[in-house]
Amino acid sequence: MDSRELVTLLADGRVYTLDALAHLMGRTLPQIQACLASLPALGINVLQDEDRVQLAAPVELLDANLIGRHLDSAVRQQFRHIHCEWVIDSTNQMALRGIAQERCHGHVYLAEKQTSGRGRRGRQWVSPFASQIAMSVVWQVPPNTPDISALSLLVGVAVCRALQGQGVEDVGLKWPNDVLAKGKKLGGILLEMQGDPQQQCHIVMGIGLNVALQDGSSKGIDQPWIDLLSLQPNRTISRNELVASVLQALFDVLALFEKQGFAALKPAWEAFDVYRGAEVVIQRGEEYIFGTAAGVDDSGALCLETTTGRQIFYGGEVSLRPKGTL
Ligand code: ATP
Ligand code: BTN
Repeated sequence: MDSRELVTLLADGRVYTLDALAHLMGRTLPQIQACLASLPALGINVLQDEDRVQLAAPVELLDANLIGRHLDSAVRQQFRHIHCEWVIDSTNQMALRGIAQERCHGHVYLAEKQTSGRGRRGRQWVSPFASQIAMSVVWQVPPNTPDISALSLLVGVAVCRALQGQGVEDVGLKWPNDVLAKGKKLGGILLEMQGDPQQQCHIVMGIGLNVALQDGSSKGIDQPWIDLLSLQPNRTISRNELVASVLQALFDVLALFEKQGFAALKPAWEAFDVYRGAEVVIQRGEEYIFGTAAGVDDSGALCLETTTGRQIFYGGEVSLRPKGTL
């Protein structure tokens, strides 16, 4: 029996008797009990008192129809295939598999939980059940698109704009791909490419955003992190609405990028740049380069003022940190 079916029923947080669940789902009591027993391993907390059961807290599950309802018609048309998955390895991985099966431009993949969420350079992205946005959007770029490496920066702009639209203040970006709030990591962006940028090429734009991580579920995050719930403790955050806001903002930045390239969006990125003017250190392999962060150039590469002059860094193998933290 599928845990998704059971959790969807329990999602309202109300108390159900085991008999009622068996009846509503057309299952036997042992089937219901076995399924309930499998939930903690997914990180889903259930309260059970003899034959009465409820989720520890109500949960808003991802719902493609609800997301679609919050989109303008042009955006809905563009993202008309929204796949809301349950527990999968990684939405980026699934999107890459989708491209191989001709599910391409405009397909959106979301997951309640990723078991192998990916960060840059093989690092792990922690995505516990129903507590964040884990989303990947497939986008086909025309052959020889200029500034293609700046796409990752544009996704950051879209995410920050969406968050601001949801009333989240003080969000910023750390080059090239981190979404920060209060100096801590709120989200991350990972772009993966399939195909040849000189010919047919698809970009998978992966976005991870912490909404409300439960105590203990952040095991494995080895740097300061934050979630939206701690930024807005008095507000109920709808993940479906948030996904729609991100898609809406993404649609706008991609349209501008396709017409005018990164230069048109560079001021927008720089307005979110948390480290502009700050003393930072760049790690490139075993090498550490100190300097003052000086924004990005027209291709999205990082500019660093050093004692020996201006240096330019491209994404890939480079990490930026505030001075004193490496
Ligand atoms: P870089 O500056 O090189 O991008 P980074 O440390 O942010 O450095 P990434 O590859 O971008 O590295 O992101 C992966 C890192 O993000 C992990 O090593 C982990 O520390 C952190 N991380 C993993 N899951 C989460 C999460 N849910 N929220 C915040 N941070 C996370
Ligand atoms: C980073 O900061 O290194 C990037 C993290 C990106 C995480 C997102 S979650 C959705 C998508 N699927 C993945 O496996 N990774 C990205």
